[in-house]
Amino acid sequence: MRRKLAAGNWKMNGTATALAELETLAAAGARNQTDVLICPPATLISRAADSAGGALDIGGQDCHANTSGAHTGDVSAEMLKDAGASHVILGHSERREDHGETDVDVNAKTIAALAGGLIAVVCVGESLAEREANQTLDVIGAQLAGSIPDDVSGATLVVAYEPIWAIGTGKVPTLEQIGEVHDFMRAELGARFGSDVGDAIRLLYGGSVKPGNAAEIFAVSNVDGALVGGASLKAADFGAIITALDAA
Ligand code: PGA
Repeated sequence: MRRKLAAGNWKMNGTATALAELETLAAAGARNQTDVLICPPATLISRAADSAGGALDIGGQDCHANTSGAHTGDVSAEMLKDAGASHVILGHSERREDHGETDVDVNAKTIAALAGGLIAVVCVGESLAEREANQTLDVIGAQLAGSIPDDVSGATLVVAYEPIWAIGTGKVPTLEQIGEVHDFMRAELGARFGSDVGDAIRLLYGGSVKPGNAAEIFAVSNVDGALVGGASLKAADFGAIITALDAA
């Protein structure tokens, strides 16, 4: 049985005052079936880990493929771990777009994250043009094949399906569209890694998840949780999403 995962991606939002939201979530205590992860900006990771007090997991939003060296402005997996992170989001579409990250880059970063003792949350997703051209499953299949290294397990890898056109837009795919992609990802992972590993990897949906649509999305097959952007910034909203997931 896969444990569920509610992951919040704060993106480039939040200074010290935002820790109060995290403390509110932490005070709600552990959930029966659901792990809760918050990925704040790198500047807050250490303080977020202190504030969470073990009630929530804390993650980074990216890491470099190298452990250290002359890479101004970058952060390594070891540094994230040292700061108190247990997870790292990799290959988010905003990284792929803003920083030209390719599947090859994401693959190298994922290897680095696992070597550094972090759980990798690898993101894939199609653009609107790709969906309209009926290329969604081809795009997702290629991203999974390219971005995920060979040596993974359900304990070290989470995959997030995030259609680019649904991120921050209020647009959400139909439940059938979400189910089609999640079933496809489950089959692809099983074909590559064997069904034991493929069935153990948690699959998150991301893109305009809100308290109002969470329950119906969490009822879709092979949706093991969500990667939430905007609605993870407020404890009231994210708490409602966590509750919906725990009840699903
Ligand atoms: P959103 O972002 O929930 O604000 O749409 C999701 C994400 O980018 O992870």
